[in-house]
Amino acid sequence: MSSFSDKIVAWYQENKRDLPWRKTDDPYKIWISEIMLQQTRVDTVIPYYERFLERFPTVYDLAEADQQDVLKSWEGLGYYSRGRNLHHASKTVVDKFDGNVPSVWDEITSLKGIGPYTASALLSIAFQKKYAVVDGNVIRVLSRYYGIQDDIRKSTTKNRIQELTDDLIPEDKPGDFNQAVMELGATVCTPQNPNCNDCPLFVDCIAAKRAQTDEIPYKSPA
Ligand code: ADE
Ligand code: SF4
Repeated sequence: MSSFSDKIVAWYQENKRDLPWRKTDDPYKIWISEIMLQQTRVDTVIPYYERFLERFPTVYDLAEADQQDVLKSWEGLGYYSRGRNLHHASKTVVDKFDGNVPSVWDEITSLKGIGPYTASALLSIAFQKKYAVVDGNVIRVLSRYYGIQDDIRKSTTKNRIQELTDDLIPEDKPGDFNQAVMELGATVCTPQNPNCNDCPLFVDCIAAKRAQTDEIPYKSPA
């Protein structure tokens, strides 16, 4: 029982934004959202996500579509390789996995465009598997909470944060936990002027206690 995960998941359930991919448990739809969210902001993604799923409501629709139509729906989102990889992967899901998004690590990471980050997000959110997601938001929340002053550019620092997150993620609702940490980083524990007064982690947060939120996370000059 970790107070970190209990507090942040309770906070998430009360405060989460009403985003379209949070209203579904269809792994295909969650997959689309996670690919779009890789390099694009939430607000930008929403209308693309809605239109894409109107056009390609199932993995079969996507797999059967012309590449040109898929890329047309991707227009404006940028990073076209994401759209091409997604199209390719949809055909793999249909041909090799009977139309079901795979729910185990080795299979899901065999799909084009699904690396460790997206695999962890999908397996936790769509399949309730205990894989911890570490992105920029998670690094900021964890480094502040634990008062980690090491350079976040270093892989040793990122590995340490991955291990800490692996230790915190609960058996119950790992997908909510991952989304909770991302959500806190996006809305409360922001890069500038984090809103510590509204943060469920405030009483245990080392950076807040030491007034070091301007120094943590520390990133060396490029
Ligand atoms: N960024 C990546 N995945 C996300 C998700 N599920 N919700 C909000 N932001 C995200
Ligand atoms: Fe971030 Fe402040 Fe919350 Fe600490 S108390 S996790 S610095 S918002």
